[in-house]
Amino acid sequence: MNSQTPIMPRRRFIAILGGGLIFAAGAGIGGFALTRTPHHALAAWDQAGQQSEPRRYALSYAILAPNPHNLQPWQVDLSEPDVVTVLVDPARRLPETDPFDRQLTIGLGCFLELMRIAASQQGYQLDITLFPQGSDNLMLASHPVARVRFVAARATADTLFDNILQRRSTKEAFDVLQDVSGDQIAMLNPTIAGVGFAGTRDTEQVSVLRELIWQAYQVEHKTPAKLQESIDVMRFGKAAINASPDGIDLGGMPLEAMMALGMLTKPSLATPGTIAYQTGLDMYQTMFAATPAFVWLTTPNNSREAQIAAGQAWLRLNLMTTQQGLALQPVSQCLQEYTEMEFHYQRVHELLAARGETVQMLGRLGYAPAAARTPRWSLDEKISIT
Ligand SMILES: Cc1cc2nc3c(=O)[nH]c(=O)nc-3n(C[C@H](O)[C@H](O)[C@H](O)COP(=O)(O)O)c2cc1C
Repeated sequence: MNSQTPIMPRRRFIAILGGGLIFAAGAGIGGFALTRTPHHALAAWDQAGQQSEPRRYALSYAILAPNPHNLQPWQVDLSEPDVVTVLVDPARRLPETDPFDRQLTIGLGCFLELMRIAASQQGYQLDITLFPQGSDNLMLASHPVARVRFVAARATADTLFDNILQRRSTKEAFDVLQDVSGDQIAMLNPTIAGVGFAGTRDTEQVSVLRELIWQAYQVEHKTPAKLQESIDVMRFGKAAINASPDGIDLGGMPLEAMMALGMLTKPSLATPGTIAYQTGLDMYQTMFAATPAFVWLTTPNNSREAQIAAGQAWLRLNLMTTQQGLALQPVSQCLQEYTEMEFHYQRVHELLAARGETVQMLGRLGYAPAAARTPRWSLDEKISIT
């Protein structure tokens, strides 16, 4: 797929029209008509691998990592030769839905693993020291997340490299008629030390999990401060997406026409009773119902190191699903640590984890048409010190 491909599949678009409302929303779902593609916001995907300096080469891929609400919370310091110091941009936290930065840390684990895979392509091995100045379990402090030293010519190229540019978090209804086999799920084990992997295609278990993610989604949507946090990071239309290539991108025709007419606004998305608010809910119900299988990752504890390892595992899992032509979408609402979600948080842990373990990631798995790329800040904008 290239950037000319409309994000929203035609049949979905027509289905939405048939429902009486031309609308697409949610974490990264957008309908880009050909002329509305935000090329500037997508340029990082075309520029990956074009840098010759080894750290910049690896980082040009790492910035394509999956991460919560696509806020891209990473910053890097390149002032020390052969070393990348990875830092957090505290302005890119999501304190309402990720109060302890657990998901943010997982996103940084994805970033580190992508950096490692890309560096291996040039024969570099990475010596990664996590939290060289310590870490805080309540909030990632301004201390470095990792000191990464590039060691020349010792690594064998990681074959998952070939899937980096096609990897997506697929926010779509999956094809429920196309079965995912138990063998396929078993082959997706990312085998990262300290991270448990499991999955299911069992009809009964899948239906319990579908209901759980839907109930949890409604809690998020109906808790104003949590919903508002997502609305705040939405980028409405091509100009806004190009100006701020992050967050939840909503663009393309006819969405942008609706925005211009005032039919789709941030306040309408936040207000119960409006068509925009209700459609946001209905769309997720339909999407979650179309889920033939699930996968999840657990860790024995919830340390920062465990969260980074879960991110590394998730990234590998996502590259493996890409390799196999499968679609994967994280569904994180029931894993979030705030009072209103407590019931579903407990339930998902009873269902999927042993006592004391943490479910770090839960994902819908199935088949879906190829999804579009999401925006990224350029590498230069992520280098704080050169
Ligand atoms: C820790 C974590 C949690 C996420 N949770 C969700 C989620 O609940 N729902 C969802 O649709 N996407 C979720 N995502 C996916 C991000 O929205 C996605 O990575 C981001 O928008 C960039 O898109 P891409 O992965 O297709 O490049 C999550 C990603 C990470 C790393």
